[in-house]
Amino acid sequence: MITALLLLAQVQNPCQPCHPQIVASYAKTAMARTSAKSSSILRPAKPFLEPVTQTTFSVSPTLELQFNKQDALEGKRQLDWVIGSGRVGHSLLFTQGNRLFQAPLSYYTEAATWQLSPGFQRRPQLDLTRVVEPGCLNCHTSSFNPATLAIEPGISCERCHGHSPQHIATAGKVAALNPKKLPAHERDSVCAQCHLTGSARVAKFRPSGDNYQPGKKLSDYSAIFVGGKAEASSTIGVTSHYENLALSRCKIASGDKLSCTTCHDPHSEPNNASAFFNAKCQSCHQEKPCKSAPKGDCIQCHMPKAAGRGVDHSSYTNHAIPRLPNEAKPATSSTLTSFWQNETNPRDLALAYAVTGKADEARPLLEAASKANLRDTQVLSQLAQIHDREGREDLARPLYESILKLDPNNSTACTNLAVILVKAGNANEAILLWRKALKANPAQTGVRMNLAQALFRQGNRAAAIVEIEEALKFDPDQPAARRLLNQIKP
Ligand code: HEC
Ligand code: HEC
Ligand code: HEC
Ligand code: HEC
Ligand code: HEC
Ligand code: HEC
Ligand code: HEC
Repeated sequence: MITALLLLAQVQNPCQPCHPQIVASYAKTAMARTSAKSSSILRPAKPFLEPVTQTTFSVSPTLELQFNKQDALEGKRQLDWVIGSGRVGHSLLFTQGNRLFQAPLSYYTEAATWQLSPGFQRRPQLDLTRVVEPGCLNCHTSSFNPATLAIEPGISCERCHGHSPQHIATAGKVAALNPKKLPAHERDSVCAQCHLTGSARVAKFRPSGDNYQPGKKLSDYSAIFVGGKAEASSTIGVTSHYENLALSRCKIASGDKLSCTTCHDPHSEPNNASAFFNAKCQSCHQEKPCKSAPKGDCIQCHMPKAAGRGVDHSSYTNHAIPRLPNEAKPATSSTLTSFWQNETNPRDLALAYAVTGKADEARPLLEAASKANLRDTQVLSQLAQIHDREGREDLARPLYESILKLDPNNSTACTNLAVILVKAGNANEAILLWRKALKANPAQTGVRMNLAQALFRQGNRAAAIVEIEEALKFDPDQPAARRLLNQIKP
């Protein structure tokens, strides 16, 4: 039975019949194992008290995350998927109301403990409402179907080689895409699609709505900006591997000759890292060997591991390859600059400033961009939100209305326009918009409370109670929702 299952699992990889070695060695890598059904990874955990949320958690043998907060509220969520190979840790996903959510707890391998997930640590509230963003699954799975919630786990061969049915049908006569044979920017894009985040990553305006595929230039799909941070960083923890490598003398002096695959074999991980990487360094540094330690372990001194982590996605090995281990990195610019020089477009820069919270820099650029392209919902949405936050509902409202003409289900526009409408006395319209937004994401407690209040004010007490009870199903640790429920209950 077990063998049959294993065989089945292997046969599923369409490359297996002709590339068996690569398929076998790739299956052991962190990328191949970066997401999985929880049943293949996760083990039960005995009850323990999580100190920040003051909640007692356990993982049952059937892999339910059970929680009890000071006997005041309790519940459970079925953990379906694991994200992260476990080199650093595992994040968990659960399903509720036809959406996937990130669990508040993650398993941290080094400490061998369950702790709050990155980004959940700051609040004592038990947060069960984080719908998993598409970006997360784009980087950690082969594919995700938002309608059925079906995940194809691990990173498949096709994520780097593209889909090529003809390659398989002709048994290799029609060549598959080999990143090595691509021009440098297209080659580097293959890894950058997941390994380059920068300070802001902005989706380009593409009327066709198509997504990046291997062989294309990532810069035609995503604009990536670096810098924009107030202080220079002496730690490694804040940038991605890709950005870090770009700061190294090796990369600056070698240009396109040096890429991720100069040092990394994407299909396998080395058994003996020192020897493996020494050989890579020496492929360029043989002629002028290191004065300090010509026979030493190159990466121990020049690519040290970062001491502090703590950031969601920090690069742990210093890819800036400093001359001296503790050398501070060059100060990053306080303005945002395009990672790919000569690619800056004012519209993309506008969005980058907006998403990094720099409204003053963003506003004039957004205004220009919104006039240049009346169909760019990303730009309209950011501009509307800036006006909204500044109390200029007169300016925000027409923008939200334009967005909904182009994209009737746009969640931000639905929820924010509804608030403006209800204040203007148009509760019926607002209620419709809030319902639409909740269909897209049912776990928005604030939206549901707004909806409940509007229904209550219309005299529809029963419907208001239904909404608050629904909110508490997704988000039980919500004192404000409980108070509202008590207020309006007969
Ligand atoms: C029916 C057999 C067959 C299948 C199935 C197959 N390949 Fe190949 N592939 C070949 C042959 C034959 C070659 C040429 C081998 C050589 O020249 O070393 C090749 C070469 C390649 C190359 C190198 C191309 C180049 O120009 O450098 C890549 C990349 C590749 N295959 C990827 C894949 C991927 C990914 C899959 C699964 C989606 C796959 N192949 C499935 C037979 C196959
Ligand atoms: C832009 C691509 C990208 C996005 C988006 C992203 N990740 Fe990652 N993640 C990575 C990469 C690359 C690594 C490994 C290298 C690193 O840590 O920088 C990683 C590492 C991890 C790890 C550690 C895995 C291990 O054990 O080595 C976990 C857990 C994780 N991510 C979870 C998540 C979750 C959960 C989300 C979404 C809420 C997410 N990531 C979003 C690319 C991404
Ligand atoms: C993370 C990206 C990535 C993934 C995933 C990946 N490859 Fe590759 N593959 C590459 C790159 C990059 C090269 C070129 C390597 C080089 O520069 O020598 C390559 C080269 C190849 C080649 C050419 C011959 C060789 O050995 O270099 C074959 C065949 C191949 N890959 C098959 C596969 C198969 C089969 C899978 C899935 C089991 C797979 N690859 C998964 C990135 C990837
Ligand atoms: C589809 C997204 C994706 C693509 C494309 C991708 N990676 Fe990754 N890579 C990841 C994620 C996610 C991880 C973290 C895996 C984990 O530990 O869970 C990772 C981990 C790694 C690691 C660390 C492995 C370890 O030992 O922990 C290396 C090295 C790496 N990637 C190199 C590459 C290279 C080189 C390319 C391009 C040829 C590439 N990746 C393309 C998503 C991707
Ligand atoms: C000059 C060699 C070199 C180049 C080029 C290089 N790496 Fe690395 N990388 C390393 C070394 C050395 C390690 C540490 C390996 C170990 O400790 O086992 C590492 C580790 C990693 C890891 C594992 C997590 C960590 O930080 O330890 C990831 C992910 C990774 N590299 C991604 C990339 C990506 C993406 C690129 C291209 C932008 C790249 N690397 C280019 C040498 C290199
Ligand atoms: C593709 C070729 C290439 C590879 C591979 C490579 N380097 Fe370099 N490296 C260079 C070049 C070129 C320079 C610049 C030399 C100069 O300025 O004279 C450089 C510079 C350096 C410097 C000086 C840094 C400074 O700030 O002055 C160090 C240290 C270094 N490399 C270490 C390494 C180590 C360690 C590895 C392996 C992990 C490695 N290199 C891999 C090409 C490479
Ligand atoms: C024990 C730590 C240590 C080890 C191991 C080590 N280096 Fe260095 N390396 C240094 C120091 C320190 C300097 C700076 C010397 C200076 O500035 O006078 C340096 C300088 C360099 C430079 C800049 C050019 C030069 O010689 O000044 C290169 C290139 C380099 N190392 C490559 C390597 C390579 C390749 C390896 C592996 C074979 C290696 N190093 C191993 C400590 C080390």
